[in-house]
Amino acid sequence: MDADDLDQLLLDARVANELAEVTGALLYGGQRFFQYLEGTRADVEQIYARIARASQHHRLEILEQGRVDKRVFQRWHMGFAHAPQTLVQQLSQAQWRREIPWLEDESAASSGLTRLLAFWKEDAVPTP
Ligand SMILES: Cc1cc2nc3c(=O)[nH]c(=O)nc-3n(C[C@H](O)[C@H](O)[C@H](O)COP(=O)(O)O)c2cc1C
Repeated sequence: MDADDLDQLLLDARVANELAEVTGALLYGGQRFFQYLEGTRADVEQIYARIARASQHHRLEILEQGRVDKRVFQRWHMGFAHAPQTLVQQLSQAQWRREIPWLEDESAASSGLTRLLAFWKEDAVPTP
């Protein structure tokens, strides 16, 4: 996808996500997307249905779905950044199930989420 395609996608996605109160992050690297979505189950399912209908992808894979105690991308109705291909690959193979699901602090984050947050906080250049 070129820059214009991505701009168009983000514009559309952010309007829909804001209406649905869905937040998250989208990374793009090496012709692959990685996406993290958060919101109520019904809202996330509604947005996922939109994503599934999009014609710009060939295959979708759900890595993990489940309850979280709080949003981590609170400010982003879809944060977006370009990412190295290796990171997108690592995230698609990471462990997304939380080790200790009943613990309510950050140490309970899965290794996938820990890796995603480290990239987002330290290296990502988010598109406003
Ligand atoms: C990688 C990817 C991520 C997307 N993320 C979202 C999203 O977070 N929220 C949303 O409402 N739609 C999302 N969409 C759907 C787009 O906003 C838009 O509806 C779609 O790209 C329209 O494409 P089409 O008209 O070519 O089928 C996503 C689409 C793609 C390909």
